[in-house]
Amino acid sequence: MNAALPTPAAAALFDRIKATLAGEQRQRQPGTWSPVARYLDPSRHLSELAALRRLPQAVADAATLQAVGDWRACSVHGVPVLLTRGADDRLRAFINVCRHRGAALVPEGASGQGRERFVCPYHSWTYGSHGACVGRPHDGDFPHAPRDRTGLVELPCAQRFGLVWVVATATPGFDWAAYFGPLGDEIEELGFDAAARVQRERHFTQASNWKLVLDGNLESYHFAYAHRETIAHLFHDNLVVHDQVGDHQRIVLPKRSFAELAEPPARLADFARTLNIIYFLFPSTLLLWEGDHINAIALSPADGASTRVDGWLVAPQRYLSVRSDGHWQRNFDMFWQAIDEDLALAASMQRGLTSGANQALCFGENEFACAAFHDAVQRMLD
Ligand code: FES
Ligand SMILES: [Fe+2]
Repeated sequence: MNAALPTPAAAALFDRIKATLAGEQRQRQPGTWSPVARYLDPSRHLSELAALRRLPQAVADAATLQAVGDWRACSVHGVPVLLTRGADDRLRAFINVCRHRGAALVPEGASGQGRERFVCPYHSWTYGSHGACVGRPHDGDFPHAPRDRTGLVELPCAQRFGLVWVVATATPGFDWAAYFGPLGDEIEELGFDAAARVQRERHFTQASNWKLVLDGNLESYHFAYAHRETIAHLFHDNLVVHDQVGDHQRIVLPKRSFAELAEPPARLADFARTLNIIYFLFPSTLLLWEGDHINAIALSPADGASTRVDGWLVAPQRYLSVRSDGHWQRNFDMFWQAIDEDLALAASMQRGLTSGANQALCFGENEFACAAFHDAVQRMLD
């Protein structure tokens, strides 16, 4: 018997999975077509980029920005970003672009500690870690550009699930609680609160449109074939338990080991080892919950045919002292082995887009989450 009664959420999920496995509640939606122009049209790509820049994306390991004076330069959707922890202990994000003539203050990828000032390498305009322009040579030559109007452009910034999140367009009063919504609360309940820590990370460029990467991660139809040698044996074939939450999606992937559960576990976290959950936080961050850790993937289109991929393995505080370094490495390797299989296929799809074989790619009734994603992209563009 369970020590505690299952929460309503745990009990409901247990029942849904049981019914799905019994064939009583198989989730399907009408099949659709995904025009290849979606992935190829340069003007559509520019519209998507502008829209992506108005929505949040995971950008960095939060633990590297915990102390006053910590800083890091990264980029998201092609916008250079400077992250700082100010003397007031607040984490801020700015566009890493000088307000004089637009040089980068610090090179992308650079990071450090104990810094209060950022001096532009071009003409030495100087900014505080809170963004204000605090000094510049020959100040009297700029009566038309007063210092209080030439501070760095601040971006919305938040810390969730061990990661730093940024919106790449200045949006005063951005509502983070509304963005993460109930899925954010659920992920936090799984242990990914402010004390969760990144254990591994990986950054590289993928040779395909960003949407092909997401198409490949929102269905389980391919598991039995594309992942035959890696993870296919763990999961039920062609089966998901799916929820649309605003533009976000939650995709539960029951494992074969789910059969061992005779009754609902007490909490969602206790489903660990019997299922994985993909939290797709629209538009471009995937968090895959795998029990004692999350593997996060954030996508930034470099151009229409290539995408920067940022990946982090994050673990809750409670597991840090009881799991070995080798455990995280094994899980990280296993995850990326499967994702690399997906990415190789996405790259092959990219190469075939202009071949003339398809005017549109085909989504079956079982690939409805891909269609739901494209519907959300369309809403984002509208
Ligand atoms: S561009 Fe930065 S000081 Fe001139
Ligand atoms: Fe896959």
